[in-house]
Amino acid sequence: MKIDNFDLFYQQFKQRLEKVRTEVQRPLTLAEKVLYVHLSAEGAPLFRRGIDYATFLPDRVAMQDATAQMALLQFMNAGKRRTAVPSSVHCDHLITAKAGASVDLPQALSSNDEVYHFLLQVCQKYGIDFWQPGAGIIHQVVLENYAMPGAMMVGTDSHTPNAGGLGMIAIGVGGADAVDVMVGMPWELKMPQIIGVKLTGKLNGWVSPKDVILKLAGILTVKGATNAILEYFGDGVASLSTTGRATICNMGAEVGATTSIFPFDEKTADFLKATQRQGIAEAAKAIASELKADDAVLHSPEQFYDQVIEIDLNQLEPYINGPFTPDAAHPISEFVRIVKEKGYPEEVEVGLIGSCTNSSYEDLSRAASVARQAMQANLKTAAQFIVSPGSEQVRATAERDGLLAPFEQFGGVIMANACGPCIGQWKRQTNEPEKKNSIVSSFNRNFAKRADGNPNTYHFVTSPVLVTALTLAGRLTFNPMTDSLKDQNGNSMRLVEPIGSELPENGFQQVDKGCLLPSDEGDAVSVEIHPDSQRLQILQPFDSWDGNDLLGLRLLIKTQGKCTTDHISMAGEWLRFRGHLANISKNLLMGAVNSFNGKTNHVLNPLNGEYDHVSSVAGALKIKDLSSIVVAEDNYGEGSSREHAAMEPRYLGVKVILAKSFARIHETNLKKQGVLAITFANATDYDKVQENDTIDVLGLSEFTPTQTLYVRLHHKDGTSDKFRAVHTYNQEQIDWFKAGSALNKLKSETAT
Ligand code: F3S
Repeated sequence: MKIDNFDLFYQQFKQRLEKVRTEVQRPLTLAEKVLYVHLSAEGAPLFRRGIDYATFLPDRVAMQDATAQMALLQFMNAGKRRTAVPSSVHCDHLITAKAGASVDLPQALSSNDEVYHFLLQVCQKYGIDFWQPGAGIIHQVVLENYAMPGAMMVGTDSHTPNAGGLGMIAIGVGGADAVDVMVGMPWELKMPQIIGVKLTGKLNGWVSPKDVILKLAGILTVKGATNAILEYFGDGVASLSTTGRATICNMGAEVGATTSIFPFDEKTADFLKATQRQGIAEAAKAIASELKADDAVLHSPEQFYDQVIEIDLNQLEPYINGPFTPDAAHPISEFVRIVKEKGYPEEVEVGLIGSCTNSSYEDLSRAASVARQAMQANLKTAAQFIVSPGSEQVRATAERDGLLAPFEQFGGVIMANACGPCIGQWKRQTNEPEKKNSIVSSFNRNFAKRADGNPNTYHFVTSPVLVTALTLAGRLTFNPMTDSLKDQNGNSMRLVEPIGSELPENGFQQVDKGCLLPSDEGDAVSVEIHPDSQRLQILQPFDSWDGNDLLGLRLLIKTQGKCTTDHISMAGEWLRFRGHLANISKNLLMGAVNSFNGKTNHVLNPLNGEYDHVSSVAGALKIKDLSSIVVAEDNYGEGSSREHAAMEPRYLGVKVILAKSFARIHETNLKKQGVLAITFANATDYDKVQENDTIDVLGLSEFTPTQTLYVRLHHKDGTSDKFRAVHTYNQEQIDWFKAGSALNKLKSETAT
């Protein structure tokens, strides 16, 4: 459907939905409505949730600069003149936070000039909106400019679901999936299950929307919503601002959810109007009853959702989650005990607010109300304080309304409108990197090393108001609801509950938002990549499958414990190589723990019996024309949508990832890049894999969606083990595997 004509969009939405209703003959959840009207072919009743694959025609694509490079390098190989749907690129990940926006932004413009120029040229040529460095973080910019109730979007970033706060189905994908949508091909997704989250009551005091998802993360854990959509409903929804809903949807990624969605209501319309999209608000209002779950669903949710979770906002406490994983959920009433019991470093060294998760006007105004109290009591922060605004529109408005001043006055630094510390783009100033230390942030992820690259940093995520209060106190054990602070004269003072505004009373400040629209003369624009470039590299197609079982694979690494995309393809300083596959592959699996020695980036080279970096061993095997396999535990590839985590092993000769289970986006990324992603039928078979094994994968010559595959281990002592492996490939995905990648398959179809 065309989203640039919103009146037509909502008319079509209604018409298609009427048709779906005649097919389905039952009440519908909101997620079903949006999904079904975007199916590429009819047949909604045929799809079983959590089982069948369906194909969709999303309305829009959004890409951030780190993943856009690889996505667009692939798109350029597809032979199209323009993108089939409106698309945008957002320059937010490559800006290092160090001294504040005025210093850091010019520095980023200079150090990333080649990449920004490449992205701009591609955008100009193929009809893509280009959001310049400093314009803002992808998800906040999308929420303020592109998100639309009832529409469907894919984005090359795992927190794309942020737009669900405005009633959109927005899904994080790898670049190859984005290419499908940009070339106008039906895009495939396993029909998700739908978890209904019923919110009752009303938030109050120190409790923020963030606490809803922090609590939910504790309930569901990091993979509890895999292949599921979280759909929010209930009378508690009305008390949440649109941006608060976006925060909740944003962090649905942390429980593995395909996406999250809130219904359209007055709050949604208010936000659309405040962001100069009155027309969309009016058009959506005309079909408002279809932009929420049907009444029958709301009356009997257990009957229509796969699972229902209820959260009473009246009873909700502030949460502080971490360290090292966002599902370690601690209500504030228990947090002091946990900190003491586990021996977490009590001193808070840095507090960080902002990021795509929590940088709305409401977030800043509530945090500023806490900071202002400190100012009035002449208190300085005990810890360092950093603010990463989400968009120039919010930053300029916050500045105009005096919200940034209290942060600066108590010693805070306002960084560029960019990801910065959230993705390891942080030149943290510390004299004691070896010391265990705690930081608190309003971000979404707190994996080891993610923020500052330091394994000794204990990172806790919480709401912006809690970050501000804990930073003021300089202690993790401070509870602003019960504890006092000492002002500079030694007098006791209590912080009063934060207050703030959902939307700026005087409207958003009108600013140059920083978007360059594409050229009308795209064909005349040429995109050049210098052959000696260290940042960008033209992609060469991966080899197709030779039709045989995979025999004699060398074990590259058997990982132990959590292995996220950060462990597989580290961010931070490596972000600079995201457009150069050979260079970024040097970071392959450098954060993963080798189960045989408990070390990172230290694996056996089977060719010489010595230990070396994972990428070096993979490279040595590749030179000898030997393929390898990676063995892993649960939820392998949890975290981001970066397809480098799939392309790097593919590039270095890894043919198979054998895991106990996969995270959704990463499993698809592996399939798209032609890596065989299979799981143990019996998780205890993981224990049978030995360090010197060579490994066969059998049954591929008859690879079908129902074919059982087997793994045979050849141990060094001459014995062997054989066990069953499970795969989730459908026929289309098997064709990708055979062709060597989804892009190879796409190109062969375009050529015929
Ligand atoms: Fe950027 Fe962190 Fe969000 S990397 S897109 S601010 S999750």
